[in-house]
Amino acid sequence: MGTVFLPVDVRKIGKFSTILKKDDVLDELNIEVDASDNPGAAHLRSAAEALRTSDIPVAFPTETVYGLGADAMRSSAVNGIYKAKQRPADNPLIVHFASLRQLRELLRPSSNQAQQVNGNISNGVSPDPIPAIYEPLISKFWPGPLTIILPNPSNSPLAPEVTAGLDNFGARIPRHPLALALITLADKPIAAPSANASTKPSPTAAEHVAYDLDGRIRIILDGGPCDVGVESTVVTGLSDPPLILRPGGISLEQIRACPGWERTEIGYKNVAEADARPSAPGMKYRHYSPKATVVLHEVGKAPPGPQQLRETLGESGKVGVITTKRWRVSRDRRDGPVFQSGESMNGTAAKADSIESSYGKGFAGMIETMQKTPDARKVLQVHDIGDEDDDGLSYQLLEIPLGANVSDVARGIFSALRELDRSGVDAIFVEGVNDDEGDLAAAVMNRLRKAAEVKVVD
Ligand code: TXA
Ligand code: MG
Repeated sequence: MGTVFLPVDVRKIGKFSTILKKDDVLDELNIEVDASDNPGAAHLRSAAEALRTSDIPVAFPTETVYGLGADAMRSSAVNGIYKAKQRPADNPLIVHFASLRQLRELLRPSSNQAQQVNGNISNGVSPDPIPAIYEPLISKFWPGPLTIILPNPSNSPLAPEVTAGLDNFGARIPRHPLALALITLADKPIAAPSANASTKPSPTAAEHVAYDLDGRIRIILDGGPCDVGVESTVVTGLSDPPLILRPGGISLEQIRACPGWERTEIGYKNVAEADARPSAPGMKYRHYSPKATVVLHEVGKAPPGPQQLRETLGESGKVGVITTKRWRVSRDRRDGPVFQSGESMNGTAAKADSIESSYGKGFAGMIETMQKTPDARKVLQVHDIGDEDDDGLSYQLLEIPLGANVSDVARGIFSALRELDRSGVDAIFVEGVNDDEGDLAAAVMNRLRKAAEVKVVD
């Protein structure tokens, strides 16, 4: 099967307008997609049509990572996701919506039925089917990188494969205008895991999707690189206390600041433990693993010296290095060690960035954020460390400096791992960031600890 990129310039697909209810919550989204010969709009329409009719999933960008989408109400379409990704069938999928109206419709399949069950409701108005605990999170972070766990109604229209046998499901309204437009045009809730092959790093650019899934899917809607770079935070308010099941774009601190969420606990483990029952089913699998050996240096650890390089690679080889706050690559071979510690040139203080819904700013705000997203391939720096140094070691060093800023590190980390892997390096040394700098940093370290085969902690 041929896989094609369908590029879309989101600024040129038509008009967006929105209906906001109280607190800026996205209740409805109106889009008029350009009916003329604008190629982007035509691409968007054909991707939406494929979601409606085909059993082969469609890859599309979200603000976190690329998703691999299918109609969440059609089993044959949802099975197509598991097949393309080779994902274990017991790992449930997140369902993406374009508006609260669409989510409520799914939770309340028939309003007659809802009114019978809730017979005591006056004025014929049924209550909000979204549990009240989620209201503050929704008004603050949606659309955005937050997934909430909801009870799956007994007469749910969701295909059973979406929930993998659980009685609840993950729901998210993404912030990427292209994702919102696609879901709106398809007019279906869209089940979508990250669009990588199972166990590989999540894709943050259309090329990453193609690298993993070429020949397995037909359409990659190409909206450029993703803004956040790590997947959504998964939370549940159905347990007491509420739990974060996967760290991501929204931090524990930000969640605890919401009424009813003050006692939220961390419900995930940093390193998968074989005998513990994971609360988010996906957390038990090996993840985010490039082909090269990944060596993670926890924050504050010195960069690899000649001895560690020799132990990992032998006398020569191709070395990838991902630097964040302190590591710098020495350009002078006679310096002895290949790396040095120091402050990053790209900034001094690491900032614990917070991501809040930019919905207030409307789509212009969302598009503005997207345009700031850098491309990892453009920052890849190749240094030839020749064989002149005293130890007779000869390495080619490929460096990706992500900068000191945590949100830049999150945005670039998956891309950097993939880019180095594609360059054929034998090992990738990663300079870790400090978990305490907020959950985006914790999310990055959570992914890196899963990807790393070797961890340098002391
Ligand atoms: O940012 C994201 O969330 C991206 C984009 C595409 O939206 N999606 C994503 O999906 O990362 P996926 O399938 O790669 O990861 C979903 C995570 C898994 O860890 C899964 O186990 C968990 O969410 N999850 C899904 N449904 C769940 C449920 N009902 N209960 C607990 N965890 C659930
Ligand atoms: Mg994934």
